[in-house]
Amino acid sequence: MSKKVLVLPGDGIGPEIVAEAVKVLDVVNARFGLGLAMEEGLLGGAAYDVHGKPLPEVTMEQARAADAILLGAVGGPKWDTLPDRELRPEKGLLGLRGGLELFANLRPAILYPQLAAASTLKPEVVSGLDILIVRELTGGIYFGQPRGIRTLENGERQGYNTDVYSESEIRRIAKVAFEAAQKRGKKLCSVDKANVLEVTVLWREIVNEVAKDYPDVEVSHMYVDNAAMQLVRAPKQFDVMVTGNLFGDILSDAAAMLTGSIGMLPSASLDKNNKGMYEPCHGSAPDIAGKGIANPLATILSAAMMLRYSLNAAAAADAIEAAVSNVLDQGLRTGDIWSEGMTRVNTQEMGAAVLAALQEV
Ligand code: NAD
Ligand code: IPM
Ligand code: MN
Repeated sequence: MSKKVLVLPGDGIGPEIVAEAVKVLDVVNARFGLGLAMEEGLLGGAAYDVHGKPLPEVTMEQARAADAILLGAVGGPKWDTLPDRELRPEKGLLGLRGGLELFANLRPAILYPQLAAASTLKPEVVSGLDILIVRELTGGIYFGQPRGIRTLENGERQGYNTDVYSESEIRRIAKVAFEAAQKRGKKLCSVDKANVLEVTVLWREIVNEVAKDYPDVEVSHMYVDNAAMQLVRAPKQFDVMVTGNLFGDILSDAAAMLTGSIGMLPSASLDKNNKGMYEPCHGSAPDIAGKGIANPLATILSAAMMLRYSLNAAAAADAIEAAVSNVLDQGLRTGDIWSEGMTRVNTQEMGAAVLAALQEV
């Protein structure tokens, strides 16, 4: 039976990196007889330019019909000044996450040993790093109401957002995190700001409640400011981290740098049935878009996650991950992960090297 994959290249470097990931998917599709049927769609600025909105109905329909979605990135200066905030590319992405209830965002920060020199941290601090950040993705301050910019009586404008989490939202993301921890190092650190924010007082309470069902997992709690510091001081103390939408956004970018570059960090955004959207954690990188130099590996590794989590094709995922490791063994590096003595390659050369390595593994 064929499985539908919706490919949303998006904006900026999105189309450049997604093209390489699609070539990789084509190869494993044929080799492993996966029966994937891929179709393209529009999201973000690319959709706004054609349909006048960042998440057209047609894309939403394609997304609902798909078994999995592969996304590049959205956004860019071209659309930053749109007067109606609802039309911004990022709103399209948030609409897709919310509309499909992709509440569980898994962001694995793994340092490939070959990249120890690419990290800005000392090799001994990051070598062997393997962290999983579980970020709640459809709630919190990103979606909370009321929100907006209002004019006060004195004529001054005031911006406001609301950070909200209901017990059921906290419980379901906590379960995902505990279950992930059970399959890994059996340690879970929940990150909050319970010394200040009531929303995270409840968060901590519910995490402790869920913890009772997972007695084999060691649970700890950390304030987000300390967690940011600990991530760069001694990141290997962490196994799985679970946190809300905004903290997870910020901490995962910090964790990305531990792996050498944000160009290495894939992600999975799952609903309760493991239907998912897969995307690199980085953005559309307007500063390098169109130059053909972006690192496609986070997107290629996101495709591997898609095969593993949503398409029941673990062997194909393993092959892709092994091919990526093989390419790094060869010393091939895009600019963001380049270090002395390595061979600098561009986006297409990196993609081609992964394809060639796939023939070997
Ligand atoms: P960004 O992640 O796009 O870029 C930050 C820095 O990392 C830049 O210097 C960029 O060149 C570099 N970088 C990112 N990905 C890279 C890659 N694959 N290879 C090499 N270098 C890479 O973050 P930003 O500049 O803050 O945001 C740019 C735009 O992207 C904004 O419109 C933002 O809203 C959007 N954005 C989208 C997503 C997404 O679609 N999931 C995520 C983050 C940001
Ligand atoms: C991410 C991005 C998005 C987020 C933006 C583009 C809406 O930064 O996927 O990490 O904040 O979630
Ligand atoms: Mn982000």
